[in-house]
Amino acid sequence: MTIVSDIEPAPLEDSVSEWLALNSDSRLDRWDVYARLREEAPIFDYGDQTFLSRHKDCVNILRDHKTYLSGFDPEGERVMAVMASLDPEKQRKYREVLDHQLRWLTSSNAEKHVALRSLATRVFSMRAIENMRERIQREVDERLDELEPRDSIEIISEFAYQLPLTIISEMLDIPIEVRESIHKSWQSMTQLIGNPPERVPEVIDTVHAGMAELESRLQHTFDTRRGQQTTDLLARLLDAENDESGIITDKDIMGIVAQMVIAGHQTTQDTIGNALLELFGDRDQWRAICEEPELIPNAVEEVLRLRSPGQMVNRISRTDTVIGEREIPAGTRLTCLLASANRDAAVFDDPDRFDIRRENARQHLAFSSGVHFCLGASLSRMELQIFLETFSRRFPDADLADSHVEWLPNNFLLGLKELHVRFR
Ligand code: HEM
Repeated sequence: MTIVSDIEPAPLEDSVSEWLALNSDSRLDRWDVYARLREEAPIFDYGDQTFLSRHKDCVNILRDHKTYLSGFDPEGERVMAVMASLDPEKQRKYREVLDHQLRWLTSSNAEKHVALRSLATRVFSMRAIENMRERIQREVDERLDELEPRDSIEIISEFAYQLPLTIISEMLDIPIEVRESIHKSWQSMTQLIGNPPERVPEVIDTVHAGMAELESRLQHTFDTRRGQQTTDLLARLLDAENDESGIITDKDIMGIVAQMVIAGHQTTQDTIGNALLELFGDRDQWRAICEEPELIPNAVEEVLRLRSPGQMVNRISRTDTVIGEREIPAGTRLTCLLASANRDAAVFDDPDRFDIRRENARQHLAFSSGVHFCLGASLSRMELQIFLETFSRRFPDADLADSHVEWLPNNFLLGLKELHVRFR
């Protein structure tokens, strides 16, 4: 018997507002909002922003970097509205934080992006990543050896962020004593990214302090490393500062390194939690990876598809253009909902189901697509695969120690605040 509900769903506009407001008492599920967007309004205008929720539209935009620029407009309507709500001191801080974000590789375009990306790809080569395989395995083994005598742990704070942060920091020669402070700085900065703009006045002091700490720690590291023996990777990045072309400046190097250490640990940390949550929630699939570890690489892709740690990316149309049947004027702020695209039934059968054997799981957009495709995709895949292979081999009876889970209050990121895991 089909039960037909006579409760009308809220207008889509209201559901989108509620989702973006991040009210802690809201019971709205972001996946329901994405599903409605895909179904009812795949190109949805909301204020000064247009959301794209279907796989095909997101791919078309991400692969056309000539029409769609990456990043954000620091003079745009939204930034200006926030600026107007701040006192002069907070305005200064907000401007400095935006300047910092504009120096990330993701925010650069055209020639500048080509120059920075080719430098980053040269130093962050497949060989450099492959050279880390044994080191990642050793780090996972040692951390788990330390934690194993305990019955249970909170895996996000006791394991998940340390693994990727240690690895990227070693690759970039960032000293141990600085790493914790980088992690804390980033925690403060997430209050800006993925939070409603109305919160800027309340959080900007903390965000700015986090950013200033991050930059000063990194700057100090660069200054002490210059002229010393350092890792090949950092030395080559520092050598590229102010090269003859004049395209790459020391601020750009700061932006690339900051993005690597930050993006290099938050997203991988989140995926460790998301993977265990999904696998413990379906014991058959957990047992399958314990018995057939060759399933693990695809299981990692499926977790990234179903629970994408970076939920969205932004683009701005450079010229008047058309998406599907819709005309898009130049200067439109477009948000590609990667996490929604990854649940588009036009590409993935039964898209809300977690299936580690899904044949086309790798078609997900969790690492984006086109020229800004994630620079660290191979590294994070390697970390995640080694972690899952080691953890499932050592602890086949592991499970959640506490079934209550809470997600970080953030629209941009998808990660758990805590995940209590028992080893046996
Ligand atoms: C599960 C792990 C990860 C996920 C899901 C992820 C996701 C993403 C996404 C969605 C983008 C594209 C942004 C856009 O199109 O605007 C991106 C870019 C980037 N990621 Fe990752 N990332 C991960 C791990 C890493 C790691 C380990 C590093 C360390 C090097 C890293 C460094 C970068 C950099 C430098 C970019 C900018 C690339 C460019 O603009 O050319 N990411 N990442």
